[in-house]
Amino acid sequence: FLHKVVLGIETSCDDTAAAVVDETGDVLGEAIHSQTQVHLKTGGIIPPVAQQLHREHIARIVQEALSASQVSPSELSAVATTVKPGLALSLGVGLSFSLQLVAQLRKPFIPIHHMEAHALTVRLTSAVDFPFLALLISGGHCLLALARGVSDFLLLGQSLDIAPGDMLDKVARRLSLMNHPECSAMSGGEALEHLAKQGNKLSFDLKPPMQRAKNCDFSFSGLQHVVDKLVMQKEKEEGREQGQLLSAAADIAAAVQHTVACHLARRTHRAILFCRQRDLLPQKDAVVVASGGVASNLYIRKALGVVMNATECTLLCPPPSLCTDNGIMIAWNGIERLRAGLGVLHETEGIRYEPK
Ligand code: KG4
Ligand code: ZN
Repeated sequence: FLHKVVLGIETSCDDTAAAVVDETGDVLGEAIHSQTQVHLKTGGIIPPVAQQLHREHIARIVQEALSASQVSPSELSAVATTVKPGLALSLGVGLSFSLQLVAQLRKPFIPIHHMEAHALTVRLTSAVDFPFLALLISGGHCLLALARGVSDFLLLGQSLDIAPGDMLDKVARRLSLMNHPECSAMSGGEALEHLAKQGNKLSFDLKPPMQRAKNCDFSFSGLQHVVDKLVMQKEKEEGREQGQLLSAAADIAAAVQHTVACHLARRTHRAILFCRQRDLLPQKDAVVVASGGVASNLYIRKALGVVMNATECTLLCPPPSLCTDNGIMIAWNGIERLRAGLGVLHETEGIRYEPK
């Protein structure tokens, strides 16, 4: 009965999340409060607003996760909390809350890297050994990394400008998809995926970015500007105003989704070849993990599947609820670190955080 049990706390962006996970990967309790609806209304995340909402909800969310788990705080092995990367004001709320909690409970503290947590989530649901390639694609991040160990990551490429989810959210807003009743409760990426099903991806000839760049980096802002112009042109042609759904909206959504999928697939292909040339990945049956909010897109998964077939790799994607930000991945990363004896702090007095 001497299982390790970790409470994980996540506040790096716009979700206040907590979970209790044990050593075997059982999720004992979880709670999340999403700010998406608030930020949709303001057209993006305003950091002080996000900070305020985290402050209002964090105590309740942590309490809910703990109560659901039926683990008493004294039985916790440690508290794990996202400390980077993310919005400083948002991170500060989770960090200051956690530091108070560990001081009160006299428990070890485990600082967690948000992107490493996304990358390792797959090991909670499947038996995946190191090394594996991780493609992390969300609203705030875009990177390809080789995971060689619990805290050993080789960064192979990242976005030179914005993340794909950010770009999809901007396009969805430019197309006013949230005014569309079917899409009102969806994130921009989800709304585009939904609408793209009714569109023809070949209606517009959008070029995948960085086709000549011999590296594994990404870029999305150029494509976003091209789409902006296209939307403006269509608004003129159709005589519609901003805020009204264009009849070309579904075709635009399909073409954008297709182009983003091509870009992601091609860069991933390069990363696999690069790693194999240097014997960093097995020549056969290597595992590629796609995670982050954008990885829940089924069209993008299909495009990655084509690369998997060509390179004899296996694609693994955590279930959608684990792809988006959550407390489970933070708690799980805490378990992984505890087991590996890595980065566990028993003394937290020197750690500074944004004062209230
Ligand atoms: O991982 P996540 O919840 O938060 C971070 O950004 O860290 O990812 C959210 C992003 C948003 O930009 C959202 O539009 C995008 O993931 N997203 C999707 C889909 N579902 C969420 N993008 C494309 N297709 C989807 N089905
Ligand atoms: Zn994330």
